[in-house]
Amino acid sequence: MAGTREAGLPKGFRGAEQGWPELHRIPHPPRRLPLAGDVLGVDRRRPVQDSMRFGRELGPVFRRRAFGNEFVFLWGSRLVADLADESRFAKHVGLGIANLRPVAGDGLFTAYNHEPNWQLAHDVLAPGFTREAMEGYHGMMLAVAERLTGHWDRELAAGRAVDVPGDMTKLTLETISRTGFGHDFGSFERDRPHPFVSAMVGTLSYAQRLNSVPGPLAPLLLRGASRRNAADIAHLDRTVDELVAARRRTGGGDGDLLDRMLATAHPETGERLSPENVRKQVITFLVAGHETTSGALSFALYYLARHPEVAARARAEVDRVWGDTPEPGYDQVAKLRYVRRVLDESLRLWPTAPGYAREARQDTVLAGEHPMRRGAWALVLLPMLHRDPEVWGEDPERFDPDRFDAAAVRARPPHTFKPFGTGARACIGRQFALHEATLVLGLLLRRYELRPDPDYRLRVTERLTLMPEGLRMHLERRTAPVPAAPVTVPDDGSGSAGRCPVHGAGQ
Ligand code: HEM
Repeated sequence: MAGTREAGLPKGFRGAEQGWPELHRIPHPPRRLPLAGDVLGVDRRRPVQDSMRFGRELGPVFRRRAFGNEFVFLWGSRLVADLADESRFAKHVGLGIANLRPVAGDGLFTAYNHEPNWQLAHDVLAPGFTREAMEGYHGMMLAVAERLTGHWDRELAAGRAVDVPGDMTKLTLETISRTGFGHDFGSFERDRPHPFVSAMVGTLSYAQRLNSVPGPLAPLLLRGASRRNAADIAHLDRTVDELVAARRRTGGGDGDLLDRMLATAHPETGERLSPENVRKQVITFLVAGHETTSGALSFALYYLARHPEVAARARAEVDRVWGDTPEPGYDQVAKLRYVRRVLDESLRLWPTAPGYAREARQDTVLAGEHPMRRGAWALVLLPMLHRDPEVWGEDPERFDPDRFDAAAVRARPPHTFKPFGTGARACIGRQFALHEATLVLGLLLRRYELRPDPDYRLRVTERLTLMPEGLRMHLERRTAPVPAAPVTVPDDGSGSAGRCPVHGAGQ
């Protein structure tokens, strides 16, 4: 893989030492070991939270060394804003993402910028994320959400607490698989996670572990894990091959994502995705399309349960906007402004895709301070960017959805809130995720009071993405009367409807 990992970089380019001529000016943790690097006191299972700790100690730009590789981390808002300049910087496929290449190949998420399949797939699939496409998915999203409430009603009747991350994962997997691929994993009919989910979690965790061992020794140190990883990848491939074969046999996707992948030609070149690339795209969308949204919903529910005053305000909004409509329409979701702010504020504190990497397209100077050679790269540490006191004030840990009211958003500099990444390689599924998550939060708030376990302390588990660990909650069915008719909410410009699905992320 080393050969492909360096693709796109200048010949002979070795890494941070060469890429950052003034690397010595960037601080690193104090107790550095000669060969191993900055490994003392490190929690290998929580690399992001470890980096947050280092970020707090070392400031807005710092570096970490692990077994001969030096990584530069950035979180200062000025630095991150400069990295968003697409004329000088581009996505870098490195660290955990490059480790996913055996799983997702040149699928949209893991493709190198220069690979032709990126542009081809982007152009073929982007129409699957327009407003019209979202309207088409809405009914299916509602149907899946009703499976969740059916399951929660049964848990409630049995007096059991619900498993929040587990159930959000069932919900988001079913949503992307049914809307995108016409496939029912039957997640709510199972007690244990679907084997597809277990295989996916296995490959994500393995990709993360690969970063914590010296590259050449990985085959030896992770021999058992790498065998399991190969089996996990084979399982993902098999599942997807069956799903594609079934579609080829029976047809009938009504123009969903899989139909696009199989049948749509590029509007200008007439090219189509190859069968191998379709396989990698289906895996990419099934994984990228549910894991991060599931985490986002879980964190939002955690904060709603912890902040009853916020939950009450959000619930009042749902009652006011939806009235007693049994099934809210597409437009009624975008009108839940406060619920959306709850989601944004949860993604601020715990951006479930916690970072992205950017590389210099040319020799340049980052923010007028740090010279970078062409190919040099840095990792944006989102949970710290989203806590930069220069932007978010002296108490960035405070959960406050009003940070996202329209006036507050307008008053902030651009590129200070980036949970969906940046530029041409920003998240294609942003509107999909936001619509799904806002709809589901609205439905849950309308139906239940959330009763947190008073002893629960938030622990965040990492497997490239972030998720609240062991979060369980008791529910009560709401008794409050619901108003008879929905009210009309004027557009204050803070909603998400109508923005470009891919490039509207540059707040
Ligand atoms: C809250 C939910 C989500 C979050 C936080 C999130 C976050 C991100 C981020 C940060 C990136 C950029 C990564 C980089 O620059 O390396 C990205 C890319 C991507 N996301 Fe999402 N995502 C979410 C939901 C979704 C959904 C629902 C889908 C599909 C339906 C999706 C599909 C993708 C794909 C295919 C890419 C690669 C785009 C490209 O490079 O062209 N994501 N996402």
